[in-house]
Amino acid sequence: MLVKVVKVEKHSKDIATIHINANFNALPGQFAMVYVPGYEEIPLSFSSEKTFTVKAVGETTRALVEIKAGEWIGVRGAFGRAFRLKDNALIIAGGIGMAPLRFLYMKLLNNNYKVRVIYGAKSVDELIWRDFENASYATEDGSFGFEGTVVDLVEQEVLEKYSAIYCCGKSELLKKLYRIFEKRLKPDTIQFSLEKYIRCGIGICGSCVLKNGLRVCKDGPVFSMSEVQSEF
Ligand SMILES: Cc1cc2nc3c(=O)[nH]c(=O)nc-3n(C[C@H](O)[C@H](O)[C@H](O)COP(=O)(O)OP(=O)(O)OC[C@H]3O[C@@H](n4cnc5c(N)ncnc54)[C@H](O)[C@@H]3O)c2cc1C
Ligand code: FES
Repeated sequence: MLVKVVKVEKHSKDIATIHINANFNALPGQFAMVYVPGYEEIPLSFSSEKTFTVKAVGETTRALVEIKAGEWIGVRGAFGRAFRLKDNALIIAGGIGMAPLRFLYMKLLNNNYKVRVIYGAKSVDELIWRDFENASYATEDGSFGFEGTVVDLVEQEVLEKYSAIYCCGKSELLKKLYRIFEKRLKPDTIQFSLEKYIRCGIGICGSCVLKNGLRVCKDGPVFSMSEVQSEF
């Protein structure tokens, strides 16, 4: 479906939130296949019902970060399995991994659920949102919050007290978190949002299959820790 970009919030030179004029009834954790005329179609998580938050890493994402209000994009979705909402939650995000988790955070707050956030990035430019109520921030260069990584902050946290832990970020971060959790926590309390190369987005082409046969686009992108042991 063609949708109009109604507003573009530039967070830094490489990151922007794109507001669209259509509602795909997306839930936190779900994604859409987004097409910018003249470029590829790429998967992007909803960062709210009517926004995508994108970091420029290649041609298509750069075109999206540079897009202007009034232009049109193609959107297919919403696809995939959403986060399961629980009270007493901990959100852990690295960099642009906060995009789907911001949406989740808002939904948890709307339900009056308790939620804490651990959020890190290379520098303050990449910490897109810094207004979470109960949060610790880390930057690798010390430009905001704790000087270090998300993993350093997670290691200081009493993880056992949370009923649900939600994680999204680069696969190296998720691997490190997996190693911390596997010794201490019940796997079903953890939900990971995973990234793989997505083409069809609807479970047909096989490009996003994990080692255990599950498809990121259809069975995920949100998985419980017990479902994705094969990836770690
Ligand atoms: C379910 C899901 C949700 C995502 N949500 C977001 C989001 O909310 N915000 C955001 O900025 N990014 C998100 N991404 C990543 C985003 O899709 C890639 O950054 C984008 O596809 C890169 O396209 P490009 O043409 O700009 O760069 P390219 O030059 O094509 O690639 C740059 C990098 O992105 C990877 N990539 C390229 N195409 C895909 C693809 N179709 N699927 C997965 N990875 C790809 C490549 O392996 C490469 O490492 C998500 C990915 C997935 C799978
Ligand atoms: S992207 Fe085609 S099966 Fe997942």
